[in-house]
Amino acid sequence: MTLATGTCKAGEPMELQWDPDSIPPFPAIALKALNLMSGTDTSLLELCNLIRSDLAFSTAILRIANSPLVAFSKNVTSVLQASMLLGFQRLRNVVITHGLKTYLTSFTPLIESCWHHSVACAIIAERSAKWRFLDKDFAYTAGILHDIGRVALVAVMPEAYARVIERGGDQPQDLLQSERELCGIDHCQAGRSLVAAWNLPEAYLAITACHHDPEGHPPGTASLVPPSCELADSLGFAVIRCRSGRSYAEILAAFPEPARNRFPADAKELASEIANEIEAIESA
Ligand SMILES: [Fe+2]
Ligand SMILES: [Fe+2]
Repeated sequence: MTLATGTCKAGEPMELQWDPDSIPPFPAIALKALNLMSGTDTSLLELCNLIRSDLAFSTAILRIANSPLVAFSKNVTSVLQASMLLGFQRLRNVVITHGLKTYLTSFTPLIESCWHHSVACAIIAERSAKWRFLDKDFAYTAGILHDIGRVALVAVMPEAYARVIERGGDQPQDLLQSERELCGIDHCQAGRSLVAAWNLPEAYLAITACHHDPEGHPPGTASLVPPSCELADSLGFAVIRCRSGRSYAEILAAFPEPARNRFPADAKELASEIANEIEAIESA
């Protein structure tokens, strides 16, 4: 599918292709976990059985269940035991986070910064949701997935994306425009088409497609993703920092209550808390 005719740096036109089917598939277990929306006992058992069918995921879940990240008082020796102790929502988040981490196996510095940005955004969105009594697990997953389109662009068009970064921009809209010119598609459009190609729940369509749209922010819990993405950027977890990006204090002031007053006033404090959480996830 040809989506656009761009213009390369030298000025000559180039035909650019975006084919979501050419993107390496997201791990099947993580996709199934994303499609299991409810937290019923049946879903927990279903998720547990999916994990047990995959050696790499089984090992990862056991390592996480026995890591200081979780700190259960006893040794966890089976996936079923880990599933019962973690509960559906937490198990699902672990599977999705681990799924994204395995997906990005060829960590280049650029892909690694995409990963750190996604986890930072997920942690901020989860905390904000918890303080507002919204669905914190959905907020976390939405944060993890919101920039999946950019991960895909970086993976399949590394040179074109390096030029997007080199060019930079004052506003997110400038960066999206550069992506369209240099990659033939922007990361919001790419994310939307991946969510459709992977048959993920519709809620993720608006998150991937609209998180930089000032007019069309996604509704409900998903509305926490755009400010969380911006806050993650301001804390140093940016893939590309816009030249006129708002400061930590300015972004925080725009956060809804009570989240606004629960985040530390000092950006360095929150950045260090998030860096520690990322380190714990990576070492688990
Ligand atoms: Fe984005
Ligand atoms: Fe983002």
